[in-house]
Amino acid sequence: MEDFVLNVKQIRKNGASLNNRINSAISGKPDSLYDAASHMISKGGKRLRPYMAVKSCTMLGGKKSDATPAAIAIEMIHNFTLVHDDIMDNDEIRHGIPTVHKKYGLPVAILAGDVLFSKAFETVTSSKIPQKISSKLAEKLAKACTDVCEGQMLDIGMANAKKIPSRSQYVEMIRKKTSALFDAACAMGAISAGASSKDIARMGSFGSSLGIAFQITDDIIGAMGDSSVTKKPVGNDIREGKKSLPILVALERSSGMQRRAISKCFGNKRCTKSDMKAAVSAMHESGAEKESRNIAKRYARSAAGSLSTYSGSSKTELISLLDFILKREQ
Ligand code: IPE
Ligand code: IPE
Ligand code: MG
Ligand code: MG
Repeated sequence: MEDFVLNVKQIRKNGASLNNRINSAISGKPDSLYDAASHMISKGGKRLRPYMAVKSCTMLGGKKSDATPAAIAIEMIHNFTLVHDDIMDNDEIRHGIPTVHKKYGLPVAILAGDVLFSKAFETVTSSKIPQKISSKLAEKLAKACTDVCEGQMLDIGMANAKKIPSRSQYVEMIRKKTSALFDAACAMGAISAGASSKDIARMGSFGSSLGIAFQITDDIIGAMGDSSVTKKPVGNDIREGKKSLPILVALERSSGMQRRAISKCFGNKRCTKSDMKAAVSAMHESGAEKESRNIAKRYARSAAGSLSTYSGSSKTELISLLDFILKREQ
């Protein structure tokens, strides 16, 4: 098990057994609402958070099926945040297909997000789940949703402000907007296994640190990834003025022509394709990627530390997830 290497296919395979449950949870009338709500979730996604919920549960002695409601609910909440995030970020493409608001229009996309949110809570409060577990699941999920809203507001506020935030302000923003759901995925997996509060808290901090490493990597991909691999337009975070770590680091490290090339597109919605190409090249030349990746690695190491008292194959799989996250390109 030492050399176990996790890939996206294995993560998706774990998620595949949940897809039917997800599809039936997101169904009803009118069709136009549920078509929009299932548009993104049925066509793509790595199913990372369900993987984490399931492995956290099995590592702590639960069965895979014990984690099903938590796994489904966290993926629905994740997709709710994606639908609304693409509206906020003016993103028209995700997974290589039109985003929900681009395909169905703004009012339907808002509702599609809302129904994913409410169906997730229906799932964790089902009468089939022991009441003690379901109330803890709902409490954890609700708190995570509040954190995501606060984090997204910080993200928007930072993008609109001229001021460049500190690195620790950036980390606090992504801890809320992204790590909150990874924290919840692992903690809800632990809750589903009937784990102690200590174990639930440890799994939450594993998910939280992993989430930081994940978002830093996502921000590297978002600012300077290869769009044929990421299936997202390159440079969008630069155009939107996002204060992401690689952009902060590139601004700190560059001067002269390089800095001017980045500044020309930073927060400039009218930036041309060739200017964006120059800005992305300047980002590469600044060495921001290496420095950002090193910071991500530090959070991944701290995540691994949270699992030090556990053992078994599910732990190995969770540790391998850290490596997958650091190396992913999409
Ligand atoms: C994307 O998350 C949103 C972020 C928190 C950066 P994922 O990369 O896990 O999204 P999907 O589900 O695989 O599309
Ligand atoms: C990720 O936001 C966090 C949420 C979706 C809540 P981003 O805006 O950084 O993620 P992508 O790049 O659109 O997936
Ligand atoms: Mg976005
Ligand atoms: Mg966003």
